[in-house]
Amino acid sequence: MQARISVNVTKKQNAIHPNMYGQFIEFLGRCIDQGIYHPGSPLSDHHGFRQDVQKKAKELKPPILRFPGGTMVKLYHWMDGVGAAKERKRQSNRIWGGVIDHAFGTNEFIQYCREIGAEPFIIVNMTTGTAEEAADWVEYCNGTDDTYYANLRRSHGFEEPHNVKYWGLGNEEAAVPDIGFLHDPNEYIKASWEFAKQMKLADRSIKLVMVGEKPEWNKAILDELHPICDYLSLHYYARSESDDYANLFHHAVRMERMIVDTKKLLDLYPVKVESFDRWYRFPPRQQEIQIALDEWGIWQHQSSNDYVADLEAIFNWKEALLVASMLNVLQRQSHTVTMATFAQLVNVLAPIFTNENGSFCQTIYHPLQMYREHCGNWLLSCEAESMMLLDGEGQETESACLDVSATYHDENGEVIVAVVNRHPERSLTATLSYIGQENLQIFEAIELNCPSWETVNGFDIEDQVARVTKIDARYDSERGYVFPPHSITLLKHR
Ligand code: AHR
Repeated sequence: MQARISVNVTKKQNAIHPNMYGQFIEFLGRCIDQGIYHPGSPLSDHHGFRQDVQKKAKELKPPILRFPGGTMVKLYHWMDGVGAAKERKRQSNRIWGGVIDHAFGTNEFIQYCREIGAEPFIIVNMTTGTAEEAADWVEYCNGTDDTYYANLRRSHGFEEPHNVKYWGLGNEEAAVPDIGFLHDPNEYIKASWEFAKQMKLADRSIKLVMVGEKPEWNKAILDELHPICDYLSLHYYARSESDDYANLFHHAVRMERMIVDTKKLLDLYPVKVESFDRWYRFPPRQQEIQIALDEWGIWQHQSSNDYVADLEAIFNWKEALLVASMLNVLQRQSHTVTMATFAQLVNVLAPIFTNENGSFCQTIYHPLQMYREHCGNWLLSCEAESMMLLDGEGQETESACLDVSATYHDENGEVIVAVVNRHPERSLTATLSYIGQENLQIFEAIELNCPSWETVNGFDIEDQVARVTKIDARYDSERGYVFPPHSITLLKHR
């Protein structure tokens, strides 16, 4: 089959929210402690922030950073992480193991966000925490009046409010093995109303992200909570059931299906809340309910019985191809996914990996960085056809070899077509056509690739991911455009 890509340039579909390129940090293993925060390390600054990590994080430019968990949030009490460092409580991390000394707390998190240019996104503890405690946290962060918690923040050296806009009500509350008692949607609904009321009365402008799960849970909670749910949170981890090369790419298809199905459910609820009891004394949501994919990534290397150690996965190039495919999904579904935070930023299933002497960028870092830097802020509709990937038995899988999305950048007028060739051995030649602007020209192609799909990065070796910028790339309609095996290409057009 001749591969073909057709981009419709006549109409911008929807704006792509920059929060699509967010990241997530948790008190889990070496993500926060020793990852981004390591006081006493020669690699850290006076705040204790690892500078090598911070530089790499800055280049990823996440517009939003989620904190402090994850599952760990169920034991997190924000008051343990503010005030004089020597008085902060040392807490056993009963969820993930190890000890949290709380030296990195709310203010350190906010400072880190400011350093890397990210907006803070905070998840509250609905399990061992209370609605009042969560509302106090909102007041501590955002309060401007002469009140106890706003003054407490001031006394900690932060005169100006932190203005934290995004707040998550719990994390994966339906997960029965996790500690907590909100596994029944009715319990979550009851608790969420109380948390929402108290938190919104501390700051009416905050946006609430509520825990999503399987369709039945989502429907049950939205039937009751839809007037105050700004975002429904979904999580997606690609976990491979086999080592088959093509099998991994099913995950992009499944993730897209999950988003499309959830959007169908969201469409059942009114775009605007028409009637809302004024006695709540805070406004209902102002927009249609959006999806926050606030944990996504790849979680497939389970080689030992040590759960946390296994999370320090080293990713090969095939997994970077999957990350690029998942970014294409996020772009294609950007009308409903307006926030996504990759899990997690450092060491835990992460694009940045450290030891005490240094750090390196994993293969998956590169597509995350490249899409953030170069893709446009409007979605264009685009169709692609190519042969299907075959599994180890030679059967067609659900994934085409070429995975494509197209965007438009309104700052520079560029059309960017992102193409992942997932074929492990073959170059694929595709014809390109542009509806509505026949004379669009490629002026630059940025290509990421590795010597093989099994390539990994590591300490003390040069980054194996080659980024080639071809400023003389041209599309020849007779010969088509050639996408090398296992490559990620951004074709920039004007
Ligand atoms: O990101 C690792 C863990 O995965 C998070 O703590 C949890 O929310 C999810 O199950």
